[in-house]
Amino acid sequence: MTSPLWFICCMIPFAASLDGEQSKVSSHFVLAGEPAFISCPVDKYPDDNVTWYRNDTPVTMDISKRIHQQDNLLWFIPATLKDSGFYECNTSSSDKEYIQLKVFKNDDGLCFNRETMYNQKVFTSIGGKITCPNLDYFNSENNTAPEIHWYKECKPGLLEDHRFHSSKGGIYLTINNVNMSDQGNYTCQTTYTYMGEQYNVSRNIYVDIEEGPKKTPPEFIYPRNHSIEVELGSHVIMDCNISTSISTLTPYWQVNGKDVDRFDDTFKEKYYEHPSLGGGFIIGATFNISEVKNKDYSLKFCCHVLHPYGEAVAFIVLKRPARDIQGHLIGGLVSLIFVIVVAVFVYKLFKIDIVLWYRRSCHPFLHKQDGKIYDAYVLYPKNRVSCLYSPDIFALKILPEVLEKQCGYNLFIFGRDDLPGQAAVSVTDEKISQSRRVIILLVPESSCYSVLEDTSEQQLAVYNALIRDGIKIILIELDKIKDYTGMPESIKYIKQKHGAIRWKGDFTERSYSASTKFWKHVRYQMPPRQTISPTERQLLPPVFNSPEIVLER
Ligand SMILES: *[C@@H]1O[C@H](CO)[C@@H](O)[C@H](O)[C@H]1NC(C)=O
Ligand SMILES: *[C@@H]1O[C@H](CO)[C@@H](O)[C@H](O)[C@H]1NC(C)=O
Ligand SMILES: *[C@@H]1O[C@H](CO)[C@@H](O)[C@H](O)[C@H]1NC(C)=O
Ligand SMILES: *[C@@H]1O[C@H](CO)[C@@H](O)[C@H](O)[C@H]1NC(C)=O
Ligand SMILES: *[C@@H]1O[C@H](CO)[C@@H](O)[C@H](O)[C@H]1NC(C)=O
Ligand SMILES: *[C@@H]1O[C@H](CO)[C@@H](O)[C@H](O)[C@H]1NC(C)=O
Ligand SMILES: *[C@@H]1O[C@H](CO)[C@@H](O)[C@H](O)[C@H]1NC(C)=O
Ligand SMILES: *[C@@H]1O[C@H](CO)[C@@H](O)[C@H](O)[C@H]1NC(C)=O
Ligand SMILES: *[C@@H]1O[C@H](CO)[C@@H](O)[C@H](O)[C@H]1NC(C)=O
Repeated sequence: MTSPLWFICCMIPFAASLDGEQSKVSSHFVLAGEPAFISCPVDKYPDDNVTWYRNDTPVTMDISKRIHQQDNLLWFIPATLKDSGFYECNTSSSDKEYIQLKVFKNDDGLCFNRETMYNQKVFTSIGGKITCPNLDYFNSENNTAPEIHWYKECKPGLLEDHRFHSSKGGIYLTINNVNMSDQGNYTCQTTYTYMGEQYNVSRNIYVDIEEGPKKTPPEFIYPRNHSIEVELGSHVIMDCNISTSISTLTPYWQVNGKDVDRFDDTFKEKYYEHPSLGGGFIIGATFNISEVKNKDYSLKFCCHVLHPYGEAVAFIVLKRPARDIQGHLIGGLVSLIFVIVVAVFVYKLFKIDIVLWYRRSCHPFLHKQDGKIYDAYVLYPKNRVSCLYSPDIFALKILPEVLEKQCGYNLFIFGRDDLPGQAAVSVTDEKISQSRRVIILLVPESSCYSVLEDTSEQQLAVYNALIRDGIKIILIELDKIKDYTGMPESIKYIKQKHGAIRWKGDFTERSYSASTKFWKHVRYQMPPRQTISPTERQLLPPVFNSPEIVLER
């Protein structure tokens, strides 16, 4: 324990002249019959070995002797009245220092000597704290500090007044709502066991009461009731950092209502204080958790500070680092969904191009024969004189130009490829069953007298294709058709189920390119092109690729 900051103790250094040497002499008071120790005030080289002398004779190191040296300290266990006097200490690197020991007896009928009081100050109407001073090194043999008891005017029972509270094993006595009646002579007493003998160790404090300075309560800089994630076994500096206008406060750490050094004896608390900008102070208490253990998790480490207006508390909780599985999972899922959405979107957007590209690059490997001759059977309304969009031009010129010449499809176009004299119905029936698709050209009623008036051939073709052979039908509208009500049921059904491709082109060069949107769409609906060997080709009926189609006007 470092000396608390706010008591003015009675170890008054004074200058004295001894043997002609100018030295600083400090005085120690000790009650006769109690154990006492003196430390050498040479702390420049704390690792140095100290030698103690009395009357120029070195003090023995034999710890069973009443007066002996142990670990650089001079011990009197116990002190007697005749031990009063001067003692000297030096190290290899320092001059001798002189220390005066004054052994006293208590005043008659009292548990203290009024000449040897420590003075401490407490402020009114506000909390205050008294400290039992100078008890370092009084840990008993098995390193436990016995409880400290407090007396006022030599009478026990102080803690029965609920305004009094002792903490840190009794080293601190806190008083709430201090008033003038709390002024007086206080005694703290503990025991010290040495070599099987038990001794009393007591300190006397005169507590003065003063009006409290009207100042603002201290503020926690750190901690701020928060939690930090620390790995098991890691080193954590637990710092309690307070900004205050009053320098005489001492913060302290507690856990589970116990002082931290009692919770775990490796937790050695240290205090600090330094002035801050603006005339105030930064005070603090710090201890190290050299290795975080399981027991340290989830506890509230509370930093307390008593101040003129009461007590302030702030805590910190140590947490295991959360293995962020959930976060990773959600993140992974979200990015997966995102990738899928993007992929679906891209596929939707470029479906036709992707399929066409796929057919072009992979089809030779996937090729299979289905025994059919034609890629498509083309049906169109023939010879409508009144038609605005001539289905003849489209069916006989544009369609073969693109699908046959550019794309290499094999079409059967009724009215081009049928032999004269053949019965329409039987040709249609036969050819459709040899085709992979049926293309039906639709012309709006408004621009053309009727679309599929000679329904017998069309209906038959469509029914055969749909029902008997399961052949896919491609509808091509040569202009926007607003009203399908006049259409045969089968056409309506196909339109509703598979939609129709609308021709928006004219009859210029551009419309003859297989890479326009329209033709890509048609090619997408068409089957993958069958690569036909030259020998097979000879078996096929001749294809009339008539470049000059004579349009009947
Ligand atoms: C102090 O004494 C110990 C043993 O007596 C010795 O090992 C050590 O070196 C000494 N230290 C110094 C700084 O002289
Ligand atoms: C203390 O000083 C004396 C001489 O004054 C010297 O002999 C002795 O070695 C010193 N002690 C230590 C620990 O250096
Ligand atoms: C030391 O602790 C043991 C138990 O761990 C106890 O029995 C013994 O009385 C203690 N000794 C002192 C001197 O407190
Ligand atoms: C001080 O407070 C105590 C308890 O509240 C009360 O009994 C006592 O009368 C007070 N004394 C003075 C001087 O106010
Ligand atoms: C403290 O003790 C002295 C000596 O016995 C006594 O005169 C004084 O009144 C006491 N102080 C208080 C506040 O009781
Ligand atoms: C220690 O103090 C208590 C009360 O203060 C007393 O009863 C006891 O006799 C003292 N022990 C010694 C060894 O003086
Ligand atoms: C306490 O807080 C002050 C102000 O934020 C900072 O400058 C200082 O370093 C802190 N002290 C410690 C020991 O953390
Ligand atoms: C805690 O550890 C740091 C560095 O490891 C050290 O500087 C500091 O003095 C230690 N504090 C305490 C209270 O032991
Ligand atoms: C922190 O918690 C304590 C109680 O544990 C509470 O009194 C204090 O006001 C809290 N401080 C902040 C800044 O929330």
